[in-house]
Amino acid sequence: MKTNILVTGAAGYIGSHVTFLLNREGYAVIGLDNLSKGHASAFRGEKLLVGDLLDRKFLQAVFAEYDFAAVLHFAALSLVGESMTAPERYFRNNIVGGLNLIETMIENSSPPFIFSSTAAVYGNPECTPITEKHVEKPINPYGESKYMLEKMLQWCGQAHGLRYHALRYFNAAGAWPQANLGEDHNPETHLIPALLNTALKKDGRAKIFGTDYPTPDGTCVRDYIHVMDLAQAHVLSLKALLNGAESDVFNLGNGTGFSVLEVLSAVRTVTSRPIPADTVARRPGDPPVLIASSEKIREKLGWKPTFTRIEEIVQHAWDWSREHPDGFPD
Ligand code: UFG
Repeated sequence: MKTNILVTGAAGYIGSHVTFLLNREGYAVIGLDNLSKGHASAFRGEKLLVGDLLDRKFLQAVFAEYDFAAVLHFAALSLVGESMTAPERYFRNNIVGGLNLIETMIENSSPPFIFSSTAAVYGNPECTPITEKHVEKPINPYGESKYMLEKMLQWCGQAHGLRYHALRYFNAAGAWPQANLGEDHNPETHLIPALLNTALKKDGRAKIFGTDYPTPDGTCVRDYIHVMDLAQAHVLSLKALLNGAESDVFNLGNGTGFSVLEVLSAVRTVTSRPIPADTVARRPGDPPVLIASSEKIREKLGWKPTFTRIEEIVQHAWDWSREHPDGFPD
């Protein structure tokens, strides 16, 4: 008998890649997704259940039907810019949805939990690279909603013995072409796929959100981590929790920063397309620099990223985009 794992957001960008790897490792992934952002054809597990975390009855029915050895929670709204203009949507989806899930888990013997958290919990970093000891001071509702869920996990963990890992991702990027998986959002707001979309269109122009940041070239610096390396970290975290590991919080990044202009240059090199770009106003809620220290997860779980060159990450994303110019079929 395979071990059942519940993956929320299993049809989304990161959730689908992690599901693929879990499936390859022999786990039976039961996916849960409301398909508001995800794509049914990106699901690579045993069974996809379509429903919403805001629907407690649906969640109770899912937990009544299956015994889960662990729960991986990806389903969330995740756009920094959008969260600044519609914060209430972020609090309802991410907090109320997350709380419904946690409550249902507590009613069902509290299986170990892996939470997709974010570098956005740190806000404007006071030092770089950022370690997990850095103070959490989110500067956008998206980061705030993720941090609030981390706090809920901490208190519920203490009260009910729920063990969890919160994985604070820096900028997930790339694709898994052999798994036929990549990044497909509509509209696309993330830097690398947005630049690739411009490369695919003959007449498009890219946007650079601000060139007056306190960084070497004036554009924001981010730590891009390949989605396959992220997936590997989840498998390590799952195995540790299934073996009794204590609750913990881990950063996940490569430890190297690339500016928007450096990413643009890498995309031009990989695609051999000119990609004309215009400088526009800063996007509200963007910290100037986010670079991770991932020493803790390297030491405690033995995680080691395979893809650290930005060109490699962009190449995989480009391979997928070129083969799927219209994204997933559904
Ligand atoms: N950017 C542009 N032009 C674009 C798109 C983005 O200049 O067309 C800039 C942004 O302003 C930012 C950088 O490129 O400075 C990266 O932006 P993304 O939208 O790709 O990613 P974010 O850094 O905003 O956010 C991502 C995830 C969050 C996570 C964060 C952590 O979407 O969930 O990384 O670093 F919290």
